[in-house]
Amino acid sequence: MRLLVTGGAGYIGSIVAQQLLAAGHEVVVLDNLSRGHRAAVPDGAGFVEADLLDPPALAAAVAEGFDGALHFAALSLVGESVARPELYWRNNVAGTLNLLDALRAAGVGRLVFSSTAATYGEPEQVPIEETAPTRPVNPYGASKLAVDQMIGDECRAHGLGAVSLRYFNVAGASGCLGEDHQPETHLIPNVLRAALGRQECVQIFGTDYATPDGTAVRDYIHIEDLATAHLLALDGARGGEHRIFNLGNGNGFSVREVIEAARAVTGLEIPVREAPRRPGDPPILVAASGKIRAELGWEPRKPALADMVGDAWAFAQAHPHGYAGAPAA
Ligand code: UFG
Repeated sequence: MRLLVTGGAGYIGSIVAQQLLAAGHEVVVLDNLSRGHRAAVPDGAGFVEADLLDPPALAAAVAEGFDGALHFAALSLVGESVARPELYWRNNVAGTLNLLDALRAAGVGRLVFSSTAATYGEPEQVPIEETAPTRPVNPYGASKLAVDQMIGDECRAHGLGAVSLRYFNVAGASGCLGEDHQPETHLIPNVLRAALGRQECVQIFGTDYATPDGTAVRDYIHIEDLATAHLLALDGARGGEHRIFNLGNGNGFSVREVIEAARAVTGLEIPVREAPRRPGDPPILVAASGKIRAELGWEPRKPALADMVGDAWAFAQAHPHGYAGAPAA
């Protein structure tokens, strides 16, 4: 298929683009490079620098003709979304509305969307089923939920076939593609920055949660397993339907377990400092992953934390300053 990948210069979009190319698809990445990296766009993919908030540029790019789109372009920092919600409503919601308009005008009938566990908010029950109430606790989650609802309406009204994947905690790297955010807020990259001596220590945000070791529990999923799910979702898109799947392994690991895994992988001490809870962090987020396994046949190949941390460590060592200074692909 010929596929448009919005946000394909980012962590997740670039690795999905790489897998799509490996599977024989033709890929064009559309990215405004506000958070992504030109060097992350994989070899073999076309590249258009354009913004979803620029409808003429978007329409021109989409008019080239595509069989489907995978939509990653978004802002995704919870803290930033609380401080500047307008950025999230504009980029994530208005940007996606523009994309849906462009896809409809060009007759593109297939869409895979990056949704998030943040659409559920504080779960009443874990593991979290797709039928759980959606009560986001920050503007980031609210903006992604609004997009899910908008996509559902588009499918019912105009026949689009769409799949939303609600990611839990994505981790690891894939060869020369990995995670490089500014600022970096995620646990595993920060643990590895402490291992590399790029920061003094890693902070543990909250040690008094009602969890086995008092630290927060998350469902980490390897980026390559997450990417594979997108190829299955593309095949699973059915005209007029909006399908929603959680995407996690169904296993939880605490912050302390992640740090121990990193110590084992790196052989380094990794200094830690206990700190207060980070506002808005739920104690436990674990996916019920049965639906995507049963309906799309997804199976993780790298569910072990050691593989995720090991691949992230290989990327961090090869790119100690992220993509800065890396040659453009
Ligand atoms: N944490 C630390 N120290 C750090 C960084 C994180 O202790 O330096 C803790 C956090 O407090 C949290 C856990 O590690 O308890 C995981 O934090 P991350 O920032 O890695 O990931 P989150 O679970 O906060 O966020 C992820 C996605 C978001 C999404 C959210 C859904 O990255 O995009 O899940 O709730 F919104």
